[in-house]
Amino acid sequence: MKLGSYEFEVPVFLAPLAGVTDKAFRETVCAVGGKYVWTEMISDKALTYQNQRTLNMLDLSGEAEPRIVQLFGSDPETMARAALLAIECSATVIDINMGCPAQKIVKNAEGAALLRDLPRAQRIAAAVVRSVNVPVTVKIRLGWNDNEIVAIELAKALESVGVQMLTVHARTREQFYAGHADWDWIRRVKNEVSIPVIGNGDIFKPEDAGRLIEQTGCDGVMIGRGALGNPWLIPRTQHFLKYGKVLPEPLIEELIQVALQQFERVLKYKGERIGLNEMRKHAVWYIKRIKKAAQLRDEIMQTRSSAEMRAVFSRILEKKE
Ligand SMILES: Cc1cc2nc3c(=O)[nH]c(=O)nc-3n(C[C@H](O)[C@H](O)[C@H](O)COP(=O)(O)O)c2cc1C
Repeated sequence: MKLGSYEFEVPVFLAPLAGVTDKAFRETVCAVGGKYVWTEMISDKALTYQNQRTLNMLDLSGEAEPRIVQLFGSDPETMARAALLAIECSATVIDINMGCPAQKIVKNAEGAALLRDLPRAQRIAAAVVRSVNVPVTVKIRLGWNDNEIVAIELAKALESVGVQMLTVHARTREQFYAGHADWDWIRRVKNEVSIPVIGNGDIFKPEDAGRLIEQTGCDGVMIGRGALGNPWLIPRTQHFLKYGKVLPEPLIEELIQVALQQFERVLKYKGERIGLNEMRKHAVWYIKRIKKAAQLRDEIMQTRSSAEMRAVFSRILEKKE
């Protein structure tokens, strides 16, 4: 599959996940063998106001290409300006969010609200495509609800203004994350456009990705929730799609070591207080596979310093629980 000058051998993407796919987690996924990662969604307005927290989210230093930055917004000109700023921060692909279901986003006509305003969605994509000289991609849902499925119409409208790749999360806005993703819509979208289509929704093990590609003919897959506390799912899925073999899951030692490395990264990028806060949720995801996870979860939630967090990890390593 090609996107601009990028050639993807086995396209398995880490999904954009707000509050999760920060620099520390992206680097962790790549450290265990993942190749293609996405930033969290970034507000076009906050970026154009040069909000410091937002600029921190755009720290892409040392990250390999393609550096895919996702923006959300509702005004074509602001989105176009934000895209240029993201490129100044070394983004090499701009992705536009047309799927976030959160009320605080859709009430501003952003994210999934664009599924109900296709002319605006198209104007936004056109403005971004015009303003930048890197590939522009869009991540969509199927529609607002079951009675308003617009995926095919929207996909064609976006392709016609120069969008070079689409990711289809096969759910409606009203579904949020509930129920099953209806993969058949990915197949239908793929049949209607000639740009690459990435299938997304409900990949929790490598074989799921195999079935998704088989059933839909999509050009690649994107994994979100399955990668929480499980960065290995990305390279294991790459391996499965390339060689047809499922690699074993990591042993507890590796699991804890990788979690610890992520912790050191997040401390470096966000400092003790925020780093610890953020790591608690990741740590709870990491230890899900371990026996006595419920008790460990309490210990993790009670940590009050990075030293305490490291101590919990060390105890797990000692006992190999
Ligand atoms: C915690 C969380 C944060 C998310 N943040 C974003 C986001 O910033 N941008 C986006 O396009 N989708 C976001 N999504 C949606 C995912 O990228 C993905 O489309 C969805 O989770 C379905 O894939 P999955 O079944 O593999 O999780 C988010 C989902 C979750 C659970």
